[in-house]
Amino acid sequence: MHDDTTYITELILKASEKARKETGRVKAEQILSKPVRWPVDCTVGPGLEGAIACQTRIGYVDGSRGLLVYRGYDILDLCAHSTFEEVSYLLMLGHLPQPKQLEGFKNRLARYRRVPETLRQLMSVPVQDMHTMAALRLGTNLMRREFSYVDQEAAKPDIADAISSDEDSIPMETVPNGEERAIYEFKRDKGPIRPKPKKIEPSLDDASSQDSCYHLISGVATITAAIARIRDKRMPLEPDLELSHAGNFLYMMTGRKPTPEEERIMDIMLILHADHGMNASTFATMVVASTLSDLYFSVGSGIAALSGPLHGGANEQVLRTLKEIKGKDNVTEWFKKARARKQKIMGFGHRVYKTYDPRARVLGPLAHILAKRNKEVWPLFQTARALEKQVVSSLGDEKGIFPNVDFYSGLVYSSMNIPDAMFTPIFAVSRVAGWTARVMEYLRTNRIFRPRAMYVGQLDRAYVSIHKRGAKRPGKPRK
Ligand code: SDX
Repeated sequence: MHDDTTYITELILKASEKARKETGRVKAEQILSKPVRWPVDCTVGPGLEGAIACQTRIGYVDGSRGLLVYRGYDILDLCAHSTFEEVSYLLMLGHLPQPKQLEGFKNRLARYRRVPETLRQLMSVPVQDMHTMAALRLGTNLMRREFSYVDQEAAKPDIADAISSDEDSIPMETVPNGEERAIYEFKRDKGPIRPKPKKIEPSLDDASSQDSCYHLISGVATITAAIARIRDKRMPLEPDLELSHAGNFLYMMTGRKPTPEEERIMDIMLILHADHGMNASTFATMVVASTLSDLYFSVGSGIAALSGPLHGGANEQVLRTLKEIKGKDNVTEWFKKARARKQKIMGFGHRVYKTYDPRARVLGPLAHILAKRNKEVWPLFQTARALEKQVVSSLGDEKGIFPNVDFYSGLVYSSMNIPDAMFTPIFAVSRVAGWTARVMEYLRTNRIFRPRAMYVGQLDRAYVSIHKRGAKRPGKPRK
């Protein structure tokens, strides 16, 4: 890998130029960017397609022009000029930081980068035999236990405040205080159920604070790196506080300080994946948070949603597809069969983009340069290019099916010798910035998510006792 990284910035600026040329003339989609007066009229398709779930200032995706902005800044500008730390700050706080603010933010991230207790516990389960996203989700739960007070002894309600009853009634986990008879009542509310325990650091005073966001942004990276190490039968590594977030992540994963080029590429990958509107995993985190559950549980649900092959898990599947095709000359044949089977081609299509995903515009050329230096990956890249041509020519204009972020990301990681199983956890290392920013924004005007379903089942059915139920006669609707 080279040390000079200017070629990467040039590659991004070129991709940005190309995007502007190709989509500049395209009419913007019906702009979803005006203040919402609830209730709002929207045409909703299956899977909540088209539904407006909330109002946000964090990020916007224009599916017809292939535009992605974070807090108003074009993602391609941020890739060319910014860093993941700066972008995480921007997503969370709404503006690009001054030097001192960025320094403070980086120091906070660095403070939470070490999660030794969490890693020690994580190593007590067979991580090497687990799906990497299952291990990551477990890791965030262990963080919840260690760094929030919600499960800690000190936060448990005072025993006398729990339900009390006499000793010969139902065995209670609380010490009965000798009442004459069972008293099943909750003592009158003495303020918050979980009084703030004295010994917890003030900055972690609840599990949905801004500090929990920094904590999760740092911790998810450290845990992901540790999972890669354990799967490689090595011990997790302590962070090197001299390195950037992306640099540390690579160092803790590989055991080797990254070259400037590797660090820059990982930083761009983290910027590209940080936020993307109301995608399934972001929506999942927000739904859990809207119940006033905590940020750790919310991020755990985001990790679960992201692991699905229709969402974040697609980049791993893309590599499988490219290996299955076995060379660029077999693409046409393979494509024909896939279409006949009505098979969804991994790494293509998108609920919102009906043109090139702007992220794929950077990832394609980046994968090209990196794959060329890696003899195992190069044939896969050539197959990918042929497949892209085939799919875009057959389904592009007709169905708006184009490469999405997952099509080339796996080839970039493979060229960096990162194992396939780590691709989706790396997606989470980045997206945790968007998840936490959107949860914190939504909680300010929180309303529990609770859509409806159209009931198309039977109504008014008369109950028939089991003895009278004929094998074939389901309960008939009451007259
Ligand atoms: C990500 O939402 C986000 O923002 C997600 C994401 C993010 O940053 O968070 O961008 C990240 O998840 C990218 C997507 C990664 N997933 C994949 O690459 C899996 C393959 N893609 C498809 O499963 C699909 O395109 C989805 C899930 C991404 C979107 O599906 P939709 O919007 O529900 O589309 P659909 O399934 O209703 O399909 C509409 C039509 C169908 O044809 P018809 O039945 O109308 O004839 O388009 C076809 C589909 O068959 N189609 C595809 C296709 N995707 C849709 N045909 C072939 N290959 C595909 N990939």
